[in-house]
Amino acid sequence: MNLILFGPPGAGKGTQSALLVERLKMRQISTGDLFREAMNKQTALGKRAKEFVDAGKLVPDEIVIGMVDEVLEKLNGQSFILDGFPRTVPQAEALAALLLRRSLSIGRVVFLEVPRVELLSRLSGRRVCTKCGAVYHVESKPAKIQGVCDVCGGEVVQRKDDRESVIRIRLEEYDQSTAPVKDFYKKAGRSVEIDGTGDTEAVFSRIRSQGV
Ligand code: AP5
Repeated sequence: MNLILFGPPGAGKGTQSALLVERLKMRQISTGDLFREAMNKQTALGKRAKEFVDAGKLVPDEIVIGMVDEVLEKLNGQSFILDGFPRTVPQAEALAALLLRRSLSIGRVVFLEVPRVELLSRLSGRRVCTKCGAVYHVESKPAKIQGVCDVCGGEVVQRKDDRESVIRIRLEEYDQSTAPVKDFYKKAGRSVEIDGTGDTEAVFSRIRSQGV
């Protein structure tokens, strides 16, 4: 089954995707990760995306849609999780067309619900490995040795867009442009709201209980 994991910044989309990849061998398609990778490699895509990502703004639809189209092209039948896409109604409409063209479908759209105050503390405390992308939190999931990744020994840092001034802009972008996508999928059916608070394993079980 293919899945859309939907939720505001910090809702746990990346954390839950990692569990789905590890345990169900699904393929994660995270547009945020794809942009960060392109930015690190300083590709043409990365250079275009950087000004938006660092400022907490959404990357223009045409850039995102083209990038997702290329990834879907190379899937080879593997079940996938869309993490962070679609994020605007035009992206959701474009996705429907891309899937139709490839005879693919989405089995569930999972909305991760987390109160705003918890989102703020999750985002401001998040740290990530620059090498393998493993996600930590200074309080709820600290690295065993501060600044060093438990998984690969890479450097663990704060994302530029996890600074408080940028978090505020990302949440505004979510309210204005991304929240309406929820109604788009509610009308289309097959969407489900999941409580995204509590232990990550408990959240994972709630997702699995939806037939995922
Ligand atoms: P992206 O990387 O997608 O950022 P995001 O949507 O803001 O989501 P996050 O990665 O911040 O949060 P998450 O939900 O994955 O939470 P996580 O699991 O890490 O996008 C970045 C930027 O790229 C955008 O701002 C935009 O510029 C651009 N972009 C990307 N896609 C785009 C698109 N489609 N269109 C246009 N532009 C696009 O968890 C967060 C923290 O909480 C971690 O520290 C984690 O350890 C902790 N945590 C997770 N679960 C729990 C739990 N259950 N309990 C306690 N703590 C938890």
